[in-house]
Amino acid sequence: MKSFLSILDCTTDQLNELLVLSRELKALYKSGKRDVCLSGKVLAMLFEKTSLRTRVSFQVAMHDLGGMAIYMKPEDIGVIGQREPAKDMARVFARYVDGIMARTFSHETIVELDQWADVPVINALSDWSHPCQAMADMLTISEQCGGLKGLKLAYIGDGNNVARSLAFACARFNMKYVCASPKGYELDENSLNLANSVTAGCAAQTNDPCEAVKNANVVYTDTWVSMGQEDEKAERIAAFEGFSVDEKLMANAPKDAKVMHCLPAYRGYEISDGVVESENSTIFDQAENRLHFQRALLKYLMAN
Ligand code: CP
Ligand code: NVA
Repeated sequence: MKSFLSILDCTTDQLNELLVLSRELKALYKSGKRDVCLSGKVLAMLFEKTSLRTRVSFQVAMHDLGGMAIYMKPEDIGVIGQREPAKDMARVFARYVDGIMARTFSHETIVELDQWADVPVINALSDWSHPCQAMADMLTISEQCGGLKGLKLAYIGDGNNVARSLAFACARFNMKYVCASPKGYELDENSLNLANSVTAGCAAQTNDPCEAVKNANVVYTDTWVSMGQEDEKAERIAAFEGFSVDEKLMANAPKDAKVMHCLPAYRGYEISDGVVESENSTIFDQAENRLHFQRALLKYLMAN
């Protein structure tokens, strides 16, 4: 495996290896020990959009593994391809650094970087997917629920990048996935078909959030207004009425259902403050696991 662009590029065995390595490294670092397998290595982090969790957890992970990271913020990098072509940037970076991670508007930009860079490329969120988030979430679910196979994840809200990567992860790990969205904001049919081609009957779509959360082990949501969609904010808030993960919706879910959100959360919109702060919420364990998964991913792709 050269790079990490989409969950569907990886086999279930590879994804399982990544989860095993995440748990091993998490235990090692919690015990105060270190694994400096990336000593002397450098990761370039290219961000067309802002970030808290992804930027800091990757930077800390590189430091933890004995390497270093260079942060190229949106003001430095702009939109890749505007100042110079992605294929030129990819070849230049590959001569300076040992790995590239990129957060871009267009998924095609990450694919192009990977085609031209002979070092690993990691998708740190694109308009199409957020695979690091979904894999860190699989780590969290397996810790909280004692496994993955057969569990049901109900995703409530926008059929976006996070919803798509979760559908693919559920398919790879043999989980049930249902996406509940208002009309016009569903996960696209092609993505549902891709998930169902991995595990038949695993992924479904509904417009009824109350139905979706029934028998769910995990209730997941994300912002209704993703980065780059700020101009649509008012119409989106109107369209998503009734899709808030709040106490009323959670009354339809099992009492012990876990609540997840990739963050940043907009309280009073896609989730209520009470649900974020409830006993069911695993949101901050989930955020922590970004670090543990990405340490494993960096070791897997960049060591030796
Ligand atoms: N969840 C997530 O990717 O957060 P950031 O946008 O802060 O990196
Ligand atoms: N769907 C959100 C995820 C943020 C981590 C976005 O793309 O902005």
